[in-house]
This record gives sequence, C-alpha cells and structure tokens, in this order.
Amino acid sequence: MFEAFYPVIETKRLVLRPLAISDSESLLSIFSDAEVMKYWNTPPWTSIQNAVDFINDSKDSMLCQASLTLGVYLKPTDELAGKCMLFNYDKESKRAEIGFGLSRACWGKGYIGEAGEALIQYGFNKLGLRRIEAEIDPDNLSSANALEKLGFSREGVLRQRWEINGVVSDSALYGRLVTDEPLKLNNA
Ligand SMILES: CC(C)(COP(=O)(O)OP(=O)(O)OC[C@H]1O[C@@H](n2cnc3c(N)ncnc32)[C@H](O)[C@@H]1OP(=O)(O)O)[C@@H](O)C(=O)NCCC(=O)NCCS
Repeated sequence: MFEAFYPVIETKRLVLRPLAISDSESLLSIFSDAEVMKYWNTPPWTSIQNAVDFINDSKDSMLCQASLTLGVYLKPTDELAGKCMLFNYDKESKRAEIGFGLSRACWGKGYIGEAGEALIQYGFNKLGLRRIEAEIDPDNLSSANALEKLGFSREGVLRQRWEINGVVSDSALYGRLVTDEPLKLNNA
C-alpha cells in the first residue's frame, strides 16, 4: 500500500511525482510569489527553509499515508511547474481534499486540467476514494474555474471561515464523486 502514496503519474505533457529536496529553490520561487499565494491560507514563503520544511513534511505525511503531495513537472525539460495534493485523507469515509498551485508562468495552459484529472483518477482508482472535495476563497475565480472544468460541483459557502492578517473571508466548498459523470478531456 505504501507505493500508493509514492507514485509517479504521467500525462501527455506532465509528470507528477513526489518532490525532492533538490526542488527547494524552484518551489520557493513559485510559492514566494504573492500572486500565487493571494488566496492561500498562509502568507507567501520567504526563505528556502519554508520549501525544505514543506518537502520534508510532505514526505512524512506520505509515509504515514495521511496525504499525497506531488510536484508537477513539465515534459521534456523536467521544469517544476507547481504542486498538487490530496490531503485531509479520511480512509474510513473514502474522502480527501484536493489542492493545487502553479507558477504564474504556467497559468492558462490547461496544466491543472491535465494534472488535476490524473490526480483525481488516481484518488478514485488507486486510493479507493468515493469523494474528493475542495475549499477555496469564492473570489479565487481561476481556481473555481479549474474546479468546475474538473467536474466539481459547488456545494455551498461557509461564511467568514478564515481570518488571515486581519482579512476575513468566506470559503466555497466543491465536491466530485466517483459516480459523477466522467469528464471528456483531450489531455489527461
Ligand atoms: C488555480 C490555478 C492552478 C489555475 O490555473 P489555470 O492555468 O487557470 O488552470 P488550468 O491549468 O486548468 O488552465 C485553464 C486555462 O488554460 C487554457 N488552456 C490553454 N491551453 C490549454 C490546453 N491545452 N488544454 C486546456 N486548457 C488550456 C484554458 O482555456 C483555460 O483558460 P480559461 O479559463 O481562460 O478558459 C492557478 O490559478 C494557480 O496556481 N493559482 C494560485 C494557487 C491557488 O490559488 N490555488 C487554489 C487553492 S486550491
């Protein structure tokens, strides 16, 4: 079962695989960008230690099968485009939460459509999930758009759920079930 939390997943244009410490610089440059972190529930990263800690924590939580965090690498250069994850895994309820973030240079190319669908299929087929959910800031339109294209339904809003640096925001909740209509994608 451990291999299920340490996969390499290939799509037409991308490879998804666990992050390595050698990715620290690239990861920092993506997640220190205030635009990328605008709707995140933590401030932009400021030091290489943030990246190293993230990579080590991801590895630990994969080892204990609590979450799956994968780097998204572009073929054929192996450049790190971002990361995607299944976290808050609840084995008994067969549910996990999905999250993703790409470097700004990689937006608008359909990479999350491709990586997201591959990760979702992995969650359904290899981890046995019945439900994948996502929680986003309702103002995060590109993320809402990406989720809707990935076949998620908007299920509700939790009002004033977060306060970050004194700014209060709502959460929009999305869900996709294994039994939902399959997507018709060109890329995944
Ligand atoms: C959320 C995020 C990953 C979405 O990125 P994105 O590039 O908008 O999403 P996709 O990868 O699905 O790309 C879709 C866009 O690529 C375009 N596109 C270009 N080439 C494409 C191709 N070959 N296939 C599919 N779409 C393509 C689509 O037309 C679409 O644009 P549109 O929405 O204007 O129609 C990105 O905005 C991000 O990293 N944000 C910061 C992190 C964040 O907020 N994460 C959410 C918390 S979970």
